[in-house]
Amino acid sequence: MIAALTTEQLGVLARAVSRAPSVHNSQPWQLLVRGTEVDLLERREVRLRRHDPSGRDRLLSCGAALTNLELAVHALGRDCHVEPRADGDVVAAVTLGRPRATSSRDYLLYQAIGRRRSHRHRFFHNRVPTAVHRALVAAGDTTGVHVVVPGRLDKLAELLGFATRVLRDDRGYQRELEGWTAHAHGWDAHGDGIAEGALSPEALPVAGLVRTVTPVPDDAVLADRLAAENLLIFCTDGDTRTDHLAAGAALQRVWLTAAAKALVGSVLTQPLHLTGFRARLVSELALPGVPQAIFRFGYPAVPAAPSPRLPLGELFPPPGSRSRR
Ligand SMILES: Cc1cc2nc3c(=O)[nH]c(=O)nc-3n(C[C@H](O)[C@H](O)[C@H](O)COP(=O)(O)O)c2cc1C
Repeated sequence: MIAALTTEQLGVLARAVSRAPSVHNSQPWQLLVRGTEVDLLERREVRLRRHDPSGRDRLLSCGAALTNLELAVHALGRDCHVEPRADGDVVAAVTLGRPRATSSRDYLLYQAIGRRRSHRHRFFHNRVPTAVHRALVAAGDTTGVHVVVPGRLDKLAELLGFATRVLRDDRGYQRELEGWTAHAHGWDAHGDGIAEGALSPEALPVAGLVRTVTPVPDDAVLADRLAAENLLIFCTDGDTRTDHLAAGAALQRVWLTAAAKALVGSVLTQPLHLTGFRARLVSELALPGVPQAIFRFGYPAVPAAPSPRLPLGELFPPPGSRSRR
């Protein structure tokens, strides 16, 4: 007989899921719990029509939450079986198993969940020891996901510079972003959205979210700035919901591995949603798959504040409000 979750254990899982990164801090997930089964649900009603028209980032976010959920189950000393779902609101069904010893690696990653945050500022310097760099790449290399260190930073700068100029001048895009920025909608009360202070004015223009005031250096300067950072591109074999979930899960494993090693970073998907951008990226950088996210990391020069979260109670749908599909 496998023991069901206690209320305290449920709290551990909920806190871990809630601290996952998500597009615009929209936290597009919920948990449906029955005994030893935990379904991770995608809240499809969370829509970012301009930033994320196809909902790809929503699933990447759910993937990141899934990594946290799995680590929290392991931290509780329980085994689990994770079954990703290709369609419907349930993105993954997690079945808790028997007690098992938590590996030190899983425990370190679990402990890093609370420390990880988006660090959109400049880094102290870009020298990350080779072994640490390799450990990050290895943490994300899972079936169907390829973690790539981009070459041709001149080409990358050209593409990112172009995307920055397009997004800066896109009024519809900027209106949506403004609506998700903390100062715009009394975010303290809400617990979602991006804090104004989290969008560093001194960061690389492409490190955070491009706004109307974001300065755009010329391509050569941008290439030099990119060279002063550590960059990883997450690519997948396909571009299905399962691929998006896997990419998000891998991204979070890498991010937590970084946090566990006193590194900080931020993720970038904004330009990848511009029509034709990903195809250009694949051909210019000779990528081995479909790019889903760019991750930049380094040692922090300044601290970054944590971002807010929705109340934990909102993680659980009211009884009867969601069917298992
Ligand atoms: C799928 C995904 C896409 C994201 N895209 C961007 C982005 O393009 N630019 C950016 O600055 N942050 C991006 N973020 C970071 C989120 O804004 C951030 O995770 C969220 O605001 C919560 O803050 P935290 O990471 O400090 O917990 C993304 C995060 C995820 C999971």
